[in-house]
Amino acid sequence: MPDPNLHVSPDRDALARAAAERIVHLLRDAPPGRPLSLVLAGGSTPAPCYRHLATTFRDDVPWDRLHLFWGDERFVPPEDEASNFRMTFETLTQHVPLPPEHIHRVPTDNGSPDAAARAYETTLLRFFAAQADDLFDVTLLGMGDDGHTASLFPNDAVLHETDAWVRSVTAPAYMTPPRRITLTLPRLNRSRHVLFLVAGDTKRDTLRQVLQEEPSDALPASRIQARTSLAWYVDAAARPDGS
Ligand code: 6PG
Repeated sequence: MPDPNLHVSPDRDALARAAAERIVHLLRDAPPGRPLSLVLAGGSTPAPCYRHLATTFRDDVPWDRLHLFWGDERFVPPEDEASNFRMTFETLTQHVPLPPEHIHRVPTDNGSPDAAARAYETTLLRFFAAQADDLFDVTLLGMGDDGHTASLFPNDAVLHETDAWVRSVTAPAYMTPPRRITLTLPRLNRSRHVLFLVAGDTKRDTLRQVLQEEPSDALPASRIQARTSLAWYVDAAARPDGS
């Protein structure tokens, strides 16, 4: 039985365009008269999706209402090549009419990872204090070959955080840069809609486990839940056999 939440595109760009179209639909379908919140994913897979938002769908996005957040950030300066903020600046934010005060980046240029996490949590608390609820409208996430998502890595104690919305973590040795700030499960799971963007044959086996097995700390992506919809946008290379 094909998974109705699994959207398979022939290649990375088709995946990116399909995901961008879904994002636009979800944002435009939201109730009028209030700010909209979009959480951006880092890594490489989402970059072409952001380019489609800035070009193909530029005139369809309610930029004046939209607020951008990041699901995680590497603890590097915003101009660093490893910065998720820099990647989204180059592919999206510098190209669209977003009010600067709607861009809520993780402040990685002030002190320590813990200080950055506390400051970012304050940003979130302040934003949601003015809203009717504390749900993100749309949250984008990627998934690593090891099943991590945002900077929630396999079997990390941060997966058992129940209160904090933001934590600083140290990535496993196979991931660089090591120091990161991440939204926690309690915060990420307060999203109306979640879209995972996953591409490449190295993720196929992990994706199959996440889709077909019980949630586990060994596969943090499997611990993500959404209030209204959770969809997987994948390319043919990442499609699990038989899915
Ligand atoms: C990051 C991301 C991370 C990413 C996955 C997949 O900061 O790197 O938040 O969770 O989504 O590692 O990365 P790719 O899209 O590059 O495969």
